[in-house]
Parts: sequence; structure tokens; C-alpha cells
Amino acid sequence: MMNATFAISASRVVTCDAARATEADPLGTIDDGAVVIDSGLVSWVGPRAEIDEGVPVLEAGDVVITPGLVDAHTHAAWAGSRHGEYAVRMAGGDYEAIAAAGGGILSTQRAVASASEASLAAALTARLRRMAQLGVVTCEVKSGYGLEAEHELKQLRAIAAAAAMPGVPRVVPTFLALHALPAAARSDRGAYVRRVAFELLPAVARERLAAFVDAYVDASAFTAEEGRLLGEQARALGLGLRFHVGQFADVGGAEMAADLGARSCDHLEHVSPAGIARMAAAGTHAALLPLASFTLRQDPPPVAALRAAGVKMVVASDANPGTAPTESLPLALAFAVRSYGLTPDEAILGATRHAASSLDVEAAGALRPGAPADLVVWDLPHEHGVVQPWGTSKALIVLRDGVVTKFPWIVVSADDGEPALWEHNAKIGRVPLRFRTRELARAAIDRLNAEAKTKGGSA
Ligand code: NIG
Ligand code: FE
Repeated sequence: MMNATFAISASRVVTCDAARATEADPLGTIDDGAVVIDSGLVSWVGPRAEIDEGVPVLEAGDVVITPGLVDAHTHAAWAGSRHGEYAVRMAGGDYEAIAAAGGGILSTQRAVASASEASLAAALTARLRRMAQLGVVTCEVKSGYGLEAEHELKQLRAIAAAAAMPGVPRVVPTFLALHALPAAARSDRGAYVRRVAFELLPAVARERLAAFVDAYVDASAFTAEEGRLLGEQARALGLGLRFHVGQFADVGGAEMAADLGARSCDHLEHVSPAGIARMAAAGTHAALLPLASFTLRQDPPPVAALRAAGVKMVVASDANPGTAPTESLPLALAFAVRSYGLTPDEAILGATRHAASSLDVEAAGALRPGAPADLVVWDLPHEHGVVQPWGTSKALIVLRDGVVTKFPWIVVSADDGEPALWEHNAKIGRVPLRFRTRELARAAIDRLNAEAKTKGGSA
């Protein structure tokens, strides 16, 4: 008998499971499929017709189920606003020149320095909840706007606080250790880098505030050697590595990152064939950020060369107040296809299986038995539609660990044992789609199905 609390069926189930992928079907899809969920985990995936008799099924209809989306590169823990700078840049102002004059990252640094940990956590929680409503179930969040120890630690603690709130994606925290040189450190750059690598980094590791360490390796940021010094310390402390590489110029970041076994090089508008070859050999992912290069009016990274070398491509939002003023991973997927020439299948893998692998949370990137029950039900007839509806969310149901983050109607088990139905949006939060008994689940799901019929099945 199937271990099952309930199941969701759909006309297409997109597993993103490597074990099901074929050349003709790289996403491992199942027509008229279903996902069976038990205690927060996927317990079975397969054709709807093969589900055990007696398992309550939410018949979601002519829709698509994918794994929960994974946004592997965000700077979502920020404060303040860069609207003035945005207008200047759109009128022709140069991003790097504005940064060199104390704007850009340093302007957000000032806003973060004067924000409390609680207000940073609140701003991040709100952003993460909006991301979750778009279908994001796992989200990397970087620090990097504190720059000085006290404020970096505050930003990382705010990330930890937001990660523990209900209704947010699973958070993977990254210590973006070298992002910009604070004004006070200009006179002794080497001392700043050493302080970050030998004092701040161990403090971050001690407090377990980060899973990854990142550095911005670029012409007007940090050198590959500074990145290496930091990366070696991070590795010695057991932390994973990801680097901002080649956003404006190739300064050898890809080679350095691959040498250190980094999980990803991000941006890569400028990378040499040798850098790509080293990434391929090291299994370092390429995290593509099409919304940042769109904002900066840049040419795309060498996608054809990355593909030919077999580098796994990730697509992420880069959500930040400067170069990617967005919270939308689906919008990044749209641009990955429109401006970078990824196929829709490549884009979807870049926001599921490959993104999860780059964050060392493989199980969250595919629908297969034993994986967390992270999924999105899309109000779309085919998964390729996920990369099309610009500016509109077609995510109908979002589950994280089998718990509802978004649902057209919310089911709760009332104390008297009678399941009740609540209108969606009244109460988004931690409402588990779990039932004490199978009978309760069946009753609730029967009511959901009846409601879906009368309401046309759509949020
Ligand atoms: O990924 N390039 C550096 N970091 C960010 C931008 C940060 C900012 O402008 O605030 C990026 O594009
Ligand atoms: Fe970034």
C-alpha cells in the first residue's frame, strides 16, 4: 500500500528527475500524472491511473506540476531605495561610475547600516513571501550590504530570522564577504580583505550564519587573488563557495573559482574559453542572471560555449536594489529564453534541478520519492508556458515540505475534527495540508474538488 496523506493530479507532471530524463524529454514529464505526498515528503510519482484505491486525490485538472522553483542568487536582504540612481542610470549614467562615486552598493550599505536587524528581517520576510507566491520554494539570500563586521553579522542574523518565519521559501544563506570596499577601508585594502577572511569569516562560521561564501571578482571590485585568499579560508571552515565572476570584465575569476571547487560562477558576461573549460572540468555551475544584464544593457554571456562545454546552467533572479530590481524568478526565466537563447527546458532545469544542485540541496530540485514535497501547480496547459507570462503569476498552488504556501482555498482541520475551508488570501501562512486521518483528508479534498468545480478551478 502507498504511504499517502493525499495526492495531487495534473495533466502534466514535470519531475525534473535525472533518472526519468531522456534526450527527447529532458524534464522527465508524465502525462496524466500525480504526486503522492506523505508527511511532507513525496512518496510516489507516476501515472494518475496507478494511484492506490482510497488515496484522497486533489484533481487539479488541466494544469502542470513542477518541482518548487529554486532561486540560487539573490541579494534580497536590503534596505533603502535606489530609485534616484535608477533614473540617472536609465538616462545614460554608468553603473560602475556611480558606484565609484559612492553610490550603488555603498548607498545600500548606508541604508543597511542604519537599519535595525528586526527591520531588515521584516523587509526580507515580506520579499520572500512575495517570491513564494510566484512559485519559489528554495531561495539563496546573500549578505554583502553590511561590509563592516557589525553590519554584515546583523544582515546575516536578519536572514536567519526571516528564514524561520512562516510562509517563506527554504532559505540558503550566503556570506557575500567581499562585495565593495567600504570608504573607511580605501587606504588599506589588503588589511580589509585580511580582516574579512581571518576575523569576520570565522565569526560567521562559528555562528553558523552561512552555508556559502561569495566574493565579487571583477575589474572594479576584487581580484581573483583576493577571492582565492577568502575562498581558501572558507573551504578550510567547511563552507561552500560561489562567486560573482565576469559581470563587467574577465579577471580570471572562473579559473580561480573552479580551482577551489566552487559550486557556481555567477553572471559570466565575460569569461574566456579556458575559464569555461575549467568550470566544466570542476563541475562548477554557471548561474545566469539575465535581468541584471538586461538592466545594464549588456550582451549575454557565451551561452552556446557553456552549453557545448557541458557546464550546467542555472537561472536566477539576482534580486537586488541596483542591477536587478525584481523579485521574480519566473521573469528571469522569461528573459533567459528571450534574451539568452536558453530553451524553455534549459530554463526550467536552471531553476529546479541545476539550481538545487548548485546550492547543495539536490533533493529540492526534482519530484521523486523521498524528496521534500516542494511543488508548484501552474495554471498553464504546458510547462513551456512557465517562461511566458511576463509580469503575471500563474502559480496556483505552492507547497513547501507538503505545507501550503499558496492555495486557492485553504483547508484546516478544525478542533472538532471537521475540516473547514477558508477563502484564499484571507490567511496565507503555515497551514498544513496534513490530516489526522485519511477520512478527514478525503472529506477535505472532496470539498476542495467540489469547490474547484463551482469556481472553475482557478485562483
Ligand atoms: O549581482 N555585482 C555585484 N552585485 C550585485 C549588484 C549589487 C547592487 O548593485 O546593489 C549584482 O549585480
Ligand atoms: Fe549578484
